[in-house]
Amino acid sequence: MSLRLPDSGTATGPDGRRLPPSAERNAGPILEALRAEGLHGRVLEIASGSGYHAARITAALPGLIWQPTDLDPANLASIAAWTAGTEGALPPVVLDAARPGWHRDFPAQEAAVIINLLHLISETAAQVVLSEAARVLAPEGRLFLYGPFLREGLATSEGDAAFDASLRAQDPAIGYKDVAEVEGWMRAAGLSPRRRDMPANNLLVIGTKTNS
Ligand SMILES: C[S@@+](CC[C@H](N)C(=O)[O-])C[C@H]1O[C@@H](n2cnc3c(N)ncnc32)[C@H](O)[C@@H]1O
Repeated sequence: MSLRLPDSGTATGPDGRRLPPSAERNAGPILEALRAEGLHGRVLEIASGSGYHAARITAALPGLIWQPTDLDPANLASIAAWTAGTEGALPPVVLDAARPGWHRDFPAQEAAVIINLLHLISETAAQVVLSEAARVLAPEGRLFLYGPFLREGLATSEGDAAFDASLRAQDPAIGYKDVAEVEGWMRAAGLSPRRRDMPANNLLVIGTKTNS
């Protein structure tokens, strides 16, 4: 099912690149958080979307080997356009992160990055995404999960409550997840979670792999 989202971004160039306003807005804070966390090495990005984050992060943090991926093959042109000529970004590939078993294709990553995906998929799919993402990580590898979350079952602003309601109206199985529940799924996947506050009540939940 194709979701109606407020700002998925229109093509802004002949090479197909898109720049969704939300990605432009939150790219700076996400980049600075990942820099402060010492992001390094091989990084698998799940749900790269337009590819804007991939381009901003690999341009600012040299030495990364960043693999962008997305469910939608139509996004690969935009991702490739944004990351063309950026040292460190590998060619994008299609990945359905809610399909069990995909972790075998991306072994031994120092990190996995997921930005603004969990509220768009079901709880069952989210648990598969987190458990597969945990399994690509090398020992002590980290999952960086950014997005909006419920706190104790509640949205943190009227805008978030309205967006959550609009998602559930389109598909009752999707919508914002409660951060405590997500942290429980992370623990079940062998990750030790901690939270980093981000602008606009968003969170970066960082799960460190606790087993090998
Ligand atoms: C709101 S966009 C976020 C894109 C990008 N991470 C960003 O923040 O700009 C959500 C993305 O998730 C992708 N997506 C949805 N379901 C997915 C799945 N099961 N596996 C991988 N990607 C998925 C969509 O194709 C879309 O590009």
